[in-house]
Amino acid sequence: MPYLEERGDAKSSAGEEALTASRMVRIVGAYVRPHGLALAGFFASMLLSAGALLLLPKLMATAIVQGAQRHEWRVIVVIFGLGLVWTLAGALRNFLITWVGERVMADLRTAVFRHVLGLSPAFFEKRRTGDIISRLLTDVALLKTAVTAALPYAPRSIVMLLGSLIVMLVMDPAMTLLVVLLVPFLVLLWRSVGKEIRRLARETQDRLADLGAVVEESINGIRTVQSYQSESRVGAIYENLVRSGLQLTYRRLRLGMGMSVATGVIVFLLIAGMLRLGFHQIHSGMLTAAQLTAFLFYAFFAAISSASISEAWGFLQRGVGAGERVLALLNAVNPIQEPQDPVPLPAGKGQVEFRQVEFHYPTRPRHYAIQRLSCTIGAGQHVALVGPSGAGKSTLFHLLLRFYDPQAGEILLEGVPLTRLSMQELRSAFAVVSQEPVIFSASARENILLGRPSATETEVMEAAQAAHAWEFLRTLPEGLDTQLGERGITLSGGQRQRIAIARALLKDPRILLLDEATSALDSESEHAVQSALTRLGKNRTTVTIAHRLSTVRHADWILVLKDGRIVGQGKHDDLLGDCPIYARLAKHQFLTDTKAL
Ligand SMILES: Nc1ncnc2c1ncn2[C@@H]1O[C@H](COP(=O)(O)OP(=O)(O)O)[C@@H](O)[C@H]1O
Ligand SMILES: [Mg+2]
Repeated sequence: MPYLEERGDAKSSAGEEALTASRMVRIVGAYVRPHGLALAGFFASMLLSAGALLLLPKLMATAIVQGAQRHEWRVIVVIFGLGLVWTLAGALRNFLITWVGERVMADLRTAVFRHVLGLSPAFFEKRRTGDIISRLLTDVALLKTAVTAALPYAPRSIVMLLGSLIVMLVMDPAMTLLVVLLVPFLVLLWRSVGKEIRRLARETQDRLADLGAVVEESINGIRTVQSYQSESRVGAIYENLVRSGLQLTYRRLRLGMGMSVATGVIVFLLIAGMLRLGFHQIHSGMLTAAQLTAFLFYAFFAAISSASISEAWGFLQRGVGAGERVLALLNAVNPIQEPQDPVPLPAGKGQVEFRQVEFHYPTRPRHYAIQRLSCTIGAGQHVALVGPSGAGKSTLFHLLLRFYDPQAGEILLEGVPLTRLSMQELRSAFAVVSQEPVIFSASARENILLGRPSATETEVMEAAQAAHAWEFLRTLPEGLDTQLGERGITLSGGQRQRIAIARALLKDPRILLLDEATSALDSESEHAVQSALTRLGKNRTTVTIAHRLSTVRHADWILVLKDGRIVGQGKHDDLLGDCPIYARLAKHQFLTDTKAL
């Protein structure tokens, strides 16, 4: 929770494995390659427009000296033609590079998001949602700016700079030598400043991600924030983060400005030097005034080009900094890997076996959530899982769905280790109804269809009816088409749960995993949810994390869990006598459940 602690100096990309430049180029290159033709067009039009521009001053100088007497029209037409070529080729150049850039970034953004969607929950425990969002949005946008707004002008400026230098060299080698001597200084300046800009840009993006995280969390928990009157505290934390981001930006701006000024000063010193030399040469008759004018034009081109190269260099460094953050997501290795040659899931009614399973969450390497756990859940059985809070009950569900892999031991479904099954087959064998069912900001219909997107309208209706969801959906303004709001905020806890049950019914899985949540429900919706659950559990293996006496009474088998171990199993009446932990749970937890007695 970023806003519970001040974290102005935290560095979220610091722990990340740094991407080498060549790996970055390779990744981005793969997205650029399909647009080779457009890129070739870009380079051609760039060369054409630069060439036209380079020819202009020379022609004008010639025209002024000679054209005034003869071929007036021809000279004017040629110059106009060159201007036209320069304009059209320039427009095409801009269009093509922007087109490619936008397309590549759109593809990249989609690819990164798709990759992130497949990553194990373990990945997200170490990262904040706001950080991932900002990488997908602002970092990709920055990268795009670098690629579309800076990169295209860099080659043009380089071509212009080199072109100007060559023409100058031909016109007057002595003066050009003056220029060439200064180039290494410029390169050195850009390199050192560029590195710093890149670091600052990356840090700025980190701060932006922190901002996103604060917004995300406080909006999600707006009721808690307001009821504890934490608005001003959260606001202050936000402001501090904004300030520290601003400081970074200021530093980057100062650096960028310093670099531009230094470049400009160097360049104009150079021009002053040239003028001095040029006047001297005119006096000694080596150069005409027109030639010096043309030469100075090229010197200006060279100056403008180097200024824009230095600007592009800054942009590029920022882009690389942002690109590192985006590509780090794309580069993230999924701790949960699909098998190379999956075993098809055998037919069956949902038999599950745990063999000597040991597991700790990746963020808590010293705390074993499951310890040497072995048990079998027979096909078609109804098993109740009981135990104190923190015993590892929900963790068993996470392991069954392969959100995490155990560090030791094996879990088998129909006799096949989970790691040998394709993810698709494994996960379609289960449906979960959890304590806090997740409802997406979509219509009720779309939320139910999540269970099986191909289901027909009638099937959706039937599922809603069987889940006792139809009773309240019917009364909503637009029935199944009613938008349920972000996280189903417009529904009560019991209504959310019944939508989730309808979803599970539609999925029709072999094995049903239920995390009972009676505490959240009033007695009326509890009754509706209970009867919906009974219907859902018919004819399939069901594992229920039970908080109710009625559930454990009707279970075929009860597993008692404590500290990640099975400390008792059997039927209710036997466990009451044999298992003190169960007896205690029954006394304190179930006995309050008077309706079931
Ligand atoms: N994502 C997680 N990361 C780290 N530790 C976790 C995570 N989820 C649960 N734990 C820890 O694992 C243990 C078992 O949790 P859990 O299976 O949720 O218990 P319960 O039996 O109440 O469902 C607890 O000590 C809990 O703090
Ligand atoms: Mg739990």
